Amino acid sequence: MSKKLYIKTYGCQMNVYDSQRMVDLLSPLGYEMTETPNEADMAILNTCHIREKAEQKVFSDLGRLRIVKDERAESGKDMMIAVGGCVAQAEGAEIIRQAPYVSMVFGPQAYHKLPEMIAKTTRERDIKLGLKKNIGVVNTDFPVESKFDFLPQPTTSTISSFVSVQEGCDNFCTFCVVPYTRGAEYSRPVADILNDTRRLVSLGTKEVTLLGQNVNAFHGISPNSNDVEWGLGRLIYELAEIEGLERIRYTTSHPMDMDEELIKAHGEVPQLMPYLHLPIQSGSNRVLEAMNRRHTTAQYLDVIEKLRKARPDIAMSSDFIVGFPGETKEDHNETLDLVRAVNYAQAYSFKYSIRPGTPAGAMDLQVPEPVKVERLAELQNLLNEQQLAFNQSKVGTKQQILVDREGKYDGQLRGKTPFMQSVHFDGNERLQGEMIEVLITGALPNSVSGIVDTIG
Ligand code: 5AD
Ligand code: SF4
Repeated sequence: MSKKLYIKTYGCQMNVYDSQRMVDLLSPLGYEMTETPNEADMAILNTCHIREKAEQKVFSDLGRLRIVKDERAESGKDMMIAVGGCVAQAEGAEIIRQAPYVSMVFGPQAYHKLPEMIAKTTRERDIKLGLKKNIGVVNTDFPVESKFDFLPQPTTSTISSFVSVQEGCDNFCTFCVVPYTRGAEYSRPVADILNDTRRLVSLGTKEVTLLGQNVNAFHGISPNSNDVEWGLGRLIYELAEIEGLERIRYTTSHPMDMDEELIKAHGEVPQLMPYLHLPIQSGSNRVLEAMNRRHTTAQYLDVIEKLRKARPDIAMSSDFIVGFPGETKEDHNETLDLVRAVNYAQAYSFKYSIRPGTPAGAMDLQVPEPVKVERLAELQNLLNEQQLAFNQSKVGTKQQILVDREGKYDGQLRGKTPFMQSVHFDGNERLQGEMIEVLITGALPNSVSGIVDTIG
């Protein structure tokens, strides 16, 4: 009989990718996905540690899973609970101390060992069954081998798929836990990335998003010589040669790693979509320095100018943090000025969240919560205005849409414009997975609406 697997994914796209790899790893062991925790023989929480709120959610979800586990036990069924991802990496055995019903804790670089860990937990639990004792296995290693060499090839694909090309980060921005939870920067060999992408395309993928915590720092070993490394731009030129791959995206980038070749690719590679998420975090040079971002606002604006020269219609996105320690009203106003100067198509913004173990967490002059709330609202108002104006600017234009899902209502479909806008429109089910032309007819704050020329 097949076993059921429930996975809840928190946080970034890298976690979405990792969860998919966990499914690939566990399906040969007979696990099938379920959306309902009550049915699950194994429940994995793939967690995020980037801000405190994300972490708190994990512990409240664990409490809920415990109830489900107890209910299943009453009817003689077992449920193994596992915590993976960045909270697991940061907290390790502490999770099992706080939640002793958790069977496995594993970090982002150790999940290729899942089958082994399951065998170990099951074996040891069987031995101690008489004592009804749960055995917790913790694996938060950063192994010397790369997990990628142990992950199975994808067997299924989606119209739009993620391909991890780079992981970890050596930048050590002072607010960020990523260098601690994901580890040191590592780029996958180009040949492996090409193989994965070709395979996904042969299984039906039309769009890939290249993933990395610092994706444009990519420097993978060339397929032709172990002594030569390729940057992200070179990789994109090569991926563009794959027949049937219609769209290429990448995320997340650091402004100082936007090199000439990558910028050139934006002007020359038609499959590379005109949308770029390029976080700056703050518009104040003083704050940027305290954040250890290693660049000024002028350098950031210069990169955007070069990108716009190469690809004039490129839509820009960013991340912002308000209320970084020591941020003054003037610093905040400089962030608003920078937002006005760039004119974003969309952006994410967050209140600074103290992360234990990071340099900024120990800085003086932490900004009071009400000030953060006020600054966030002010920034978000401006960003929302810009996003709506960007969406409105596309009304009346025809856009190529990759239809990737059903819409909210009957007969409705959804897709993405090249600029990453969500589009909803009425259309026949069989258009799913197709690249079609849609006339944009309306703009909302977070999406646009459109009509298909020929409703099939
Ligand atoms: N507090 C608030 N936001 C943070 N980010 C990273 N660390 C923190 C933190 N401690 C944001 C940054 C980053 C995004 C992924 O999350 O904006 O780009
Ligand atoms: Fe974190 Fe990104 Fe800075 Fe790396 S570059 S430390 S992932 S914010």
